[in-house]
Amino acid sequence: MCGIVGYIGMQNAAPILLEGLKKLEYRGYDSAGIAVMQNGSIAVSKVTGRIAALAEKTEHGSLLPGTVGIGHTRWATHGAPTDANAHPHTSNDGRFAVVHNGIIENYLELRKELMEKGYHFDSETDTEVVVHLMEMYYQGDLKQAVMRTSARLCGSYALGILCSDEPNRMFAVREASPLILGVGVGENFFASDVTALVAYTRNAIYLDDGEFAELTPDGIQVYDCTGQPFRKKVSRISWDIQAAEKGGYEHFMRKEIMEQPRAVKATMAPRLKDGQVVLDDMEIDLHGIRKIVITACGSAYYAGCAAKYAIEKLCHIPVQIELASELRYSDPLIDATTLLIVLSQSGETADTIAAMKECQSHGAKALAIVNVVGSTIAKLADYCLYTWAGPEIAVATTKGYTTQLTALYLFALYGAKELRTVDEAEYQKKLQVLKALPKLMQQALDMNPNLEQLAKKYHRAHSMFFIGRNTDYAVALEGALKMKEISYIHAESYAAGELKHGTIALISEGQPVIALCCNDAITEKTMSNIVEVKARGAEVLAVACRDNQKIVSLADDMIFVPKVEPLFSAAVEIVPLQLLAYYVARENGCDIDKPKNLAKSVTVE
Ligand code: AGP
Repeated sequence: MCGIVGYIGMQNAAPILLEGLKKLEYRGYDSAGIAVMQNGSIAVSKVTGRIAALAEKTEHGSLLPGTVGIGHTRWATHGAPTDANAHPHTSNDGRFAVVHNGIIENYLELRKELMEKGYHFDSETDTEVVVHLMEMYYQGDLKQAVMRTSARLCGSYALGILCSDEPNRMFAVREASPLILGVGVGENFFASDVTALVAYTRNAIYLDDGEFAELTPDGIQVYDCTGQPFRKKVSRISWDIQAAEKGGYEHFMRKEIMEQPRAVKATMAPRLKDGQVVLDDMEIDLHGIRKIVITACGSAYYAGCAAKYAIEKLCHIPVQIELASELRYSDPLIDATTLLIVLSQSGETADTIAAMKECQSHGAKALAIVNVVGSTIAKLADYCLYTWAGPEIAVATTKGYTTQLTALYLFALYGAKELRTVDEAEYQKKLQVLKALPKLMQQALDMNPNLEQLAKKYHRAHSMFFIGRNTDYAVALEGALKMKEISYIHAESYAAGELKHGTIALISEGQPVIALCCNDAITEKTMSNIVEVKARGAEVLAVACRDNQKIVSLADDMIFVPKVEPLFSAAVEIVPLQLLAYYVARENGCDIDKPKNLAKSVTVE
């Protein structure tokens, strides 16, 4: 997954491109480059490494004067991170430059065709076929060449295209990869997401798949897939710049962990009216729904695992949780009696999009719960419930996860009301718990001053086990992922009751086991699992409610959480585990906001 930016106007483009790429670096950061129109030719600068290296190489853009340009920050898919594989790619005749986010799935056949026609390739990337197709199809009509090129491509692509024969215009093309146009005064922009635009304009045009746009300093013309011009709505970007900055915290992740009570409240508040849950202006008919399938990837998948209990208990509808990367190829038993719930912070995860399309093709209606307005999943869904978490910049999601949970809890209560599966008293009781979540999350943020000490104790561990039962197990799944992806310590989540069926063989002296024990109904059972692992030498860090004094005598270390109705407890229980992972990663000197090998949104398969 990569980030692309473009600028055309009166200012020097390079500094603006560099600033925009910095905002998109979370999308991929193993190489970067910019191309700027200069006196009838295109100047290009590319580096292996981060945007800072590109800024240094171009002296913050001053070495590339010019008022039209495109830029790219890469997360390698085809071809290692090298200068040659970095974008922008240029045509053999030097007249075209292209930046691309996505995957050209038929690039090998196109590469073969183009090489047979005499075009030579400088890189191993799929993207380079685009710039040679542009050269091949250009006979003086740039728009026509863009259309003919796009018509040859299969796969996903957000493209930015320059042509030195036409220095006062540039093109942006969207197919299955996000692309937003920034509308300025005497200047215009394109970018992979709004964080790269808000410093310059709050007026945005969200391109849809199959659409492309011509940008000049004085205007933007959007075209449909047939090349017909049409007027596209200009939206107002509501995110403020500070919201996308660190706000004084050392890392975006720390800021976003602390923002969770506010984010959960922002997600919930507009949907609580007169003592009822209202899901925006949606009327999701649940009568006749025999099964709910929740599909997602990574933490979003784990949010589904945690919310399953609440939806089943309150709606009396069986809930199946499916990894999107599996579901998309499983020929699922899904039809119109299935409601699909799609979870995604970015709204651009390729596997999740594909799984959604597969299920919709089987007749299921899809409810998307996403954080990014205008994202692909939001547009493809039959119903869309936005999480109002604000921009989440850290690659490891935190507020994205807890606001997804919040939206799912709201849905569960909405369904219970629609289906009359709970009486009014029970409904109101659960609603009060939901309303208290922001306060309970704040308590969870504040009640463990020992977390940094615990991180100092456990940060050298080679591996960790996160165990729990029922809702605690669902939280253990996400707690383990947080630890893995930012501290690089191997961490495995395990159903506590399952340990004795083999895995307990791995427990030896000093093995850290994080035991989640917050569900009163099964606390005793989990505590016996703690005894089992302690008998084999484990070092147990227990997560429990303060009133569970028995566990204090059992565990080696304690993390406390406020007591919460188990159906809704995941959003609270996860908070200290997020902080623990954060402090352990900091002890290990890891790049917390941009962990190695990861990208914020995986828009490739
Ligand atoms: C979470 O910390 C990870 N960065 C990753 O698992 C993420 O949740 C997953 O890639 C899904 O992303 P999405 O929510 O944007 O679809």
